[in-house]
Amino acid sequence: MCGIVGYLGEKKATPILVEGLSKLEYRGYDSSGIAVVEDGEIKIEKCRGRLSNLKDKVAGKEYAGSIGIGHTRWATHGEPSDVNSHPHSNEDETIAVVHNGIIENYIVLREWLISEGYKFVSETDTEVIPHLVDYYFDGNLEDAVIKATKRMEGSYALGVVAKNDPGKIVAVRKDSPLVIGVGEDGKESFIASDIPAVLNMTRDVYLLEDKEFVVMTKDGITIYDENKNKVEKQIFHVTWDIDAAEKGGYDHFMLKEIYEQPKAIKDTLTSRVVKGEKIKLDGIHLTKEQIENFDRVYIIACGTAYHSGVVGKYVIERLAKIPVEIDVASEFRYRNPLITDRTLMICISQSGETADTLAALRLAKEEGARIIAITNVVGSSISREADDVFYTWAGPEIAVASTKAYITMLIALYIIALYMAEAKHTVRETEIEKIKDGLLNLSEKTAEILNDVDTIKSFVDHLYSKNDVYYLGRGLDYAVAMEGSLKLKEISYIHSEAYAGGELKHGTIALIEEGTSVIALATQSELYDKQISNIREVKTRGANVLGIAMEGQTEIEKTVDQTIYIPKVMSILAPVLSVIPLQILAYYTAVQKGCDVDKPRNLAKSVTVE
Ligand code: AGP
Ligand code: GLU
Repeated sequence: MCGIVGYLGEKKATPILVEGLSKLEYRGYDSSGIAVVEDGEIKIEKCRGRLSNLKDKVAGKEYAGSIGIGHTRWATHGEPSDVNSHPHSNEDETIAVVHNGIIENYIVLREWLISEGYKFVSETDTEVIPHLVDYYFDGNLEDAVIKATKRMEGSYALGVVAKNDPGKIVAVRKDSPLVIGVGEDGKESFIASDIPAVLNMTRDVYLLEDKEFVVMTKDGITIYDENKNKVEKQIFHVTWDIDAAEKGGYDHFMLKEIYEQPKAIKDTLTSRVVKGEKIKLDGIHLTKEQIENFDRVYIIACGTAYHSGVVGKYVIERLAKIPVEIDVASEFRYRNPLITDRTLMICISQSGETADTLAALRLAKEEGARIIAITNVVGSSISREADDVFYTWAGPEIAVASTKAYITMLIALYIIALYMAEAKHTVRETEIEKIKDGLLNLSEKTAEILNDVDTIKSFVDHLYSKNDVYYLGRGLDYAVAMEGSLKLKEISYIHSEAYAGGELKHGTIALIEEGTSVIALATQSELYDKQISNIREVKTRGANVLGIAMEGQTEIEKTVDQTIYIPKVMSILAPVLSVIPLQILAYYTAVQKGCDVDKPRNLAKSVTVE
């Protein structure tokens, strides 16, 4: 999920690769490596940690080779370590591969390759690729790569070199970004997962489509489709500066990450939720008996992760029929919680390093609880100390305000709830299949919302000059209201509060007056009428209300000033969609106020102190 570079030309490849990787550092990574083809050999250097470690490793080695591939890794399968770093190769190092993405069917491929006599050294999904290419290799690298990719499911951007078809780099992408840089005099070419990596070498690039294969030699660049028909492509001339290029043309990382959500959802579901099959979770090793034995679940987290947990509480109780308590980690650790060996604790943390969450985990572990971590960072402290891990595979999140990590935490919680429900038979199979279907359609529906944000943006004018905004919701909508309110606070510095619709009249309604801004969610069909009554209560006191409802729930229009509709989904899955307008709203409000969206004042991405 991080960076790829490749160089083929007349200059020494090593410094160009390392420089290209340094331009991708902003994306976050945990290891790096390069492979250079030299004197008919492939030289691989790779290591865990900062790029400076790799620089130290290659310093003084003076590789003269002018063909090479490089990688910064954001681990998804296997902890960050030297051996798990890329490039990966076959046993005799005649083929080297860099890969961004996830190979969903790697377990099946790995078992099959082992039965064919291949030996594996790393824990990565990627390592199946060099072996597969080796299996199909008969002298022509692109043919072998085309055949290998036909066996691979999942997402990939690949750069491949082979000792026995030297003078060539083969690259391909599917659901992971990859661009091809065209050198000025036609004598050199580049591959890169992202434009910044090539920007100081060239501004002319080909933007690859899925399943397009590229063969680079000293004679030039040829692009093929998966059936080896030649593809003619227009050169894209990049006019962005490096800052805009890093953000993929978006004004801020936050907006880029909001738009990455359809892909993040897909990646989180990948290999875990398959129609008609039981949920498969690599990192969770609970038996049916253990699941049946839990008498209580604690969900522990901070901030946005905590808000995902509020959704998790509803979902796990509803599907797995276990009582769930949700608590912020800093409170939990000091309240002498009741923990036994029948307690399951789910710790949620994007970074996997949040001090309070880690402390709560340690406390519960000491008392005998079983711990599942939901985290985005492979090898993070929380992932290492938990008994079981669910990686969200959202890719690195750079903006301080969490968006795609939150959405993938929700997906993780749905999957874990279904996993427990399947083991305990607490929900009918048809219902489980229906939810799985719904989950598998969410990526597309998310993209639908993001394709048309004009109505959402039009509400910014009401908001940006306000001092206070209220978010209302019932049930799952209340959980989403909390997250929407936090987003607005964090990046626009507007005071806001989230309230459960029915709770308003017990105090807060005193604050509603002419012109007060209220954002009211009403996506839960079984609570719809009740929420409409609550909206009416604020409306009659002069509030200006933005309603968020599901397509078809048009009754709300009679009560609110403006409505945003999210595509139709089962009520239980609505949070994944309804949070998106709230993220967009917070983002554009902050932009209009001129705030530093990606680095809001007083906040840090990872809070490693108490
Ligand atoms: C998210 O927008 C926040 N910046 C913050 O609330 C964050 O969710 C919280 O600090 C928890 O971080 P974690 O997920 O890395 O543990
Ligand atoms: N899934 C691969 C791994 O864990 C690639 C990760 C990446 O894209 O950096 O090694």
